[in-house]
Amino acid sequence: MPITIDTTTTVRDLVVAHPAARQVLESLGIDYCCGGGTRLAVAVSAAGLDLATVIHAVTQAAEHPKESHGFQNRDWREATLTELVDHIEDTHHVYMKEALPRLADTFVKVRNAHGSRHDGMLQPLQATFGDLRAEIEMHLMKEEQVLFPYIRQMEASVKQTGRVPPMHCGTVQNPIRQMELEHDNAGEALARMRSITGDYALPEDACPTFAALFEGLRELEADLHEHIHLENNILFPRAVVMEAQG
Ligand SMILES: [Fe+2]
Ligand SMILES: [Fe+2]
Repeated sequence: MPITIDTTTTVRDLVVAHPAARQVLESLGIDYCCGGGTRLAVAVSAAGLDLATVIHAVTQAAEHPKESHGFQNRDWREATLTELVDHIEDTHHVYMKEALPRLADTFVKVRNAHGSRHDGMLQPLQATFGDLRAEIEMHLMKEEQVLFPYIRQMEASVKQTGRVPPMHCGTVQNPIRQMELEHDNAGEALARMRSITGDYALPEDACPTFAALFEGLRELEADLHEHIHLENNILFPRAVVMEAQG
């Protein structure tokens, strides 16, 4: 599939139109969720990469798409908002609720075994993870109890009556703005964890539990990037448009 990129194409335009591009950008360390509004050429050059090489890699990925549980190459622009919200909850929220406590336990084991030699790195890493965990757990609850039920209700109401139901936050844009701020905080915490660990470089004396911790944190990062992408780049803009048109 030929991919057309010009000087105005943003990272968001690319990943929304070509879902297979996400895993390429993830592997290259290019932010496609919180930083989706950046022009692709700018993001690629900031990462010290060559645009033609990135476009080639994205084209190859689009021709031979790979899927995994968290990364489906479905075009979510075509789905209903309810299907998308269900997918986010069933896949990414369920994953977070399992992974966050599991990684917190692994942190305790690793610090017990390696704290004496590696606490300079492990202590700030665990503190950053703890802050991230607390914020995400609250964040998931707000989405599940306020924003997502409203989006489902809005879609059903627009379909049945053509009208948007009242929103107690005034407009759907208010909770969305708050969720986006929290996504930015989560994105910054993930970047900080990468910098504290030197891109998850394992110390030479690391045991298998230490390796499992870093592997788990990398997986958490990739899953959260995909999760935020689906919300920031697809769900939220579509909900804003539906509210305005209803
Ligand atoms: Fe979410
Ligand atoms: Fe979110």
